[in-house]
This record gives sequence, structure tokens and C-alpha cells, in this order.
Amino acid sequence: MSFRERVFSGVQPTGNLHLGNYLGAIKRFVALQASHDCIYCVVDMHAMTVWQEPSELARNTREVTAAFLACGIDPEKHIVFNQSQVAEHAELAWVFSCVARVGWLNRMTQFKEKAGKDRENASVGLYSYPVLMASDILVYRATHVPVGEDQKQHLELARDIAQKFNNDFAESIRGHGHGDAFFPLPEPLIQGPATRVMSLRDGTKKMSKSDPSDYSRINLTDDADAIAQKIRKAKTDPEPLPHDVAALERRPEADNLVGIYAALKDVTKADVLAEFGGAQFSTFKAALIDLAVSVLGPIGSEMKRLVRDPAYIDSVLASGAERARVIASETMQAVKQIVGFVGR
Ligand code: AMP
Ligand code: TRP
Repeated sequence: MSFRERVFSGVQPTGNLHLGNYLGAIKRFVALQASHDCIYCVVDMHAMTVWQEPSELARNTREVTAAFLACGIDPEKHIVFNQSQVAEHAELAWVFSCVARVGWLNRMTQFKEKAGKDRENASVGLYSYPVLMASDILVYRATHVPVGEDQKQHLELARDIAQKFNNDFAESIRGHGHGDAFFPLPEPLIQGPATRVMSLRDGTKKMSKSDPSDYSRINLTDDADAIAQKIRKAKTDPEPLPHDVAALERRPEADNLVGIYAALKDVTKADVLAEFGGAQFSTFKAALIDLAVSVLGPIGSEMKRLVRDPAYIDSVLASGAERARVIASETMQAVKQIVGFVGR
């Protein structure tokens, strides 16, 4: 059975949106608008899996929305909203909690990393989070999900859940005239030279919102001076840049900066090395600073302009939520019928 192609993705409103979020995710979201119907969600319910100060959560929700718009997502042609405004995400998550197996969740590496040593004290939500993520996607029966490399395992879980639901309820799905598979198996779109942007301080660690050092990441709201300073201070090795991509393999910091340059400029790492192979880092970093400032500068100022008008942001989210709800409630009604819940 073929499903209509639809794109869904989400970003957590947990502060410090950075270059990794932009290159690994948001920039891809923007590109997909030309070819697909897209739904982009600020996943506030996911953020809550670790403690968020309520006023910060609201502020960060508006800031991620502003970033979506500033980067070029069109909230009229596509759908932009925050997760908690569409109750069906949580409703479907319960059904999926009963489809997913404990053994599957026990394999999730992100939970192990985030819960750390004090696993007993992690929230139940942090543990069951991938089930909610599967619901986010499947409540729209989305077929394609652009994400960074770190979300690959969660996407595989979403596919397993969709598949098990389709199998477990196969008879009922057919009986109610929903074809022979109700949910598509969503495909991850993990593409380009920057699916895993690394810390500027340590090329073996992912660039992350929660790194205590602000020098580890370039924030989307950093001004030109901050961007320049962070790139100048970025860790490198003593060798000049190599001429071919294979030689980047054992040089994580060089590989990272070359990948960032390539992604910002929409070229390949090989293109970058054709231009800068043999150059010293000082030369390459100067070019990278110019490029980063020219791409990120306008995004940062547009974000700052947009967050000064929270009423506008809230109206975008309300309109997106209204349109999202139409699709989500249709799915949820069918799911209720399929699993045998009485009533509408
Ligand atoms: P999060 O901030 O965890 O909600 O992530 C939002 C999106 O950005 C997800 O698609 C992530 O996979 C992506 N992302 C986060 N960090 C990075 C990174 N360092 N490199 C590439 N993509 C990333
Ligand atoms: N788990 C994703 C992250 O931490 C965010 C997310 C939540 C998401 N629901 C999603 C991404 C659905 C893609 C599709 O980055």
C-alpha cells in the first residue's frame, strides 16, 4: 500500500539552538518545503522529560518558532505548531506504549546517556520518550522525517512500532476498510555533510545545547563577533588541510570544520578541500568566519526581531495547531475504531 508523502519533524525547546540544529535539521526542513507537504513541530512535551522552568519553556518555545520562521519555513504553505496544542500526540502515545516492548526501549542509547548514572531518578517520560516521538510522526501518518544522525535509533523504533501495530491489528485494519497497512513505516532523511556537527572544543563530542562551554557551539543568536571568536578559538591540529577527504578520517576537528563549511555553502567536503587543501587553519578559519557570519547573521537578527512580537508567534502556532488537529483527529478516530474503543 502506498501512502501520500508527508514530512514531519520536531525540535525541542530547550534553549541554545545551535549550528548543529541548523545544519543537521532546520536547513533540511527548509529545503523539503519545495517538494513536500511539511509539518514542523516545537516539541514542548518532549522538553519536559527533563525539568524546565515554566517561564523558560514558554520563552524557548517561541524562540524555536522564531528560528523556524527566520530560517525560511513558510507557516502558511506548511504547518508550524507546538506539540502540546494537539492532544492526539499524547493520546496515540498511550496506544503505542501498549504496542512497544520494554526490551525495545531498553536498547535506546540516548536514554542511557541522558539518564547517566542516576537512572533510578530519571523521569518515566525520559524513558518512554521515543514512544511519544513515534506518535508525533505517525499521528500524521508522515512518511519522511528529516533529522540529525543522533535520532536514527528513535526513527527505527518508530518504524518497529508502526509495523507491529499494522501486524497486531491487521484483521481489524482490513475489516474497517483501512487497506492492509494503517501506518506507513517512516523513513529517516539523514543527509548532507553535517548530519552530526561536533563540538568546537572537542571533535569527538557532539555539538549540544547542554554543553557547559558556550565556546563548544555557535548559537543561532550569536552576533558576528561571537561567531568569529568561537571559530578562531576552535580546536584544530597542527597540520595544514589535506587534499582529499579520506585524510580527514583521523582528524576529527579538521573533519568537523570542513563539514561545517561544506554544509553552509551547499557543496561537498571534496569541493572544500579542492579549494583549501594545503592551506593553514588560519586561512581556512578566516574564510569560515566570513561564510558563517554571512549565513547566520541574518538568521540571528530576524530571530531577535520575531521574538519581540510574541503575539505574532503565538498566532502562527495557533493557526498551525488548528490545521494539525484536523489531520491528527482523523488518524486518532480511525485508531480508536481499529483497536476496539467504543465511541468517537
Ligand atoms: P534537539 O535539539 O535535540 O531537539 O534536536 C533537533 C534536531 O537537530 C534533531 O533533528 C537533531 O538530530 C538535530 N541535531 C541536534 N544536534 C545536532 C548536531 N550536533 N549535529 C547535527 N544535527 C543535530
Ligand atoms: N527527538 C528529537 C530530538 O531530540 C525531537 C523530536 C521529537 C522529533 N519528536 C520528533 C524529531 C518527531 C523528528 C520527528 O531532536
